[in-house]
Amino acid sequence: MEYTPLRISTVKPLRNLTFDLYIHFKDHYLCYAKNGEQLSEEKFQKLKSQKIAKFYITERDEVNYQKFLDALLDETLSNPKAELEEKVNMAEGAASSAIERMNTNPTESAFRATEKAAKSLRQVITGNPDALKKIFGKKAEKNEEIIKHSLNVCALSVKLAEVRRCTEQEMDDLGTAALIHDIGLTTLHKDDLALFTKPKKAFTNDDKRVYYLHCKDAAIILREKPFVTPVILELVINHEEVQSGLGPNKKKKLSQLEEILSMVNNYDKRIITNKTSPTQTLKDMMIDELGNYELNLLNDFKKVLQKEGLLD
Ligand SMILES: [Fe+2]
Ligand SMILES: [Fe+2]
Repeated sequence: MEYTPLRISTVKPLRNLTFDLYIHFKDHYLCYAKNGEQLSEEKFQKLKSQKIAKFYITERDEVNYQKFLDALLDETLSNPKAELEEKVNMAEGAASSAIERMNTNPTESAFRATEKAAKSLRQVITGNPDALKKIFGKKAEKNEEIIKHSLNVCALSVKLAEVRRCTEQEMDDLGTAALIHDIGLTTLHKDDLALFTKPKKAFTNDDKRVYYLHCKDAAIILREKPFVTPVILELVINHEEVQSGLGPNKKKKLSQLEEILSMVNNYDKRIITNKTSPTQTLKDMMIDELGNYELNLLNDFKKVLQKEGLLD
């Protein structure tokens, strides 16, 4: 039997499950709750706080789970009485699940889940002034650094795209691409993964060559998937490009969406690798990245960070 990972934060207590929920523990998959059953509030909190077991559904329950999640997302995000915390957790859970699914098996169903998750994340951010602050206030869990980085980049680039008056379609494309932009890192050798947290300034030529392979690898993973649109594919492949032409693909002319994704990725990556504060990171970028991004885009980015309270 094939199993598909899910985040327990995307399941709600006291709600009929429409799928069998499996728990993976010590090399075994155990059916924890059956289709039609509910999780009690107490059980749910317990599951959420534990860090050992992971949760799965079987592949044939994917459609049922997605329907369950879509309904829950729509309900939670449009509920004026729901706390922001709950909305953020739900959207982040959906996005993390989707990224994890794309990383393990990039099927059409995983891709559709990613699109839906990106849309939900955007809905939370555009509808709640404090959402971005909440998202950026959370630290990445252990071994979840790349997923957290992808969430951050999605949230922030979609917000910037909104300020730049991008269309709904553009924001959807950008959000989806942002969630999976580092999918190529999944093929990087385990010993080379440390490069993800190594400051770019300390990169040797060899580091650079190895690390930048993740853009080409993303192309290999996504190229032959008919459900991945050309816009999204290009965005993912070109997320490390800069206008000076010094990116891995040596592209000089970037579309507005490509520039946004590359810039926001650059920002979040600097915070991870250089461990600088948001204010310092932005200052550094204003110096280091002139010529790589349009000055008015950098300035708009600064305004967004200020307005969202991310520079305090
Ligand atoms: Fe990257
Ligand atoms: Fe990245």
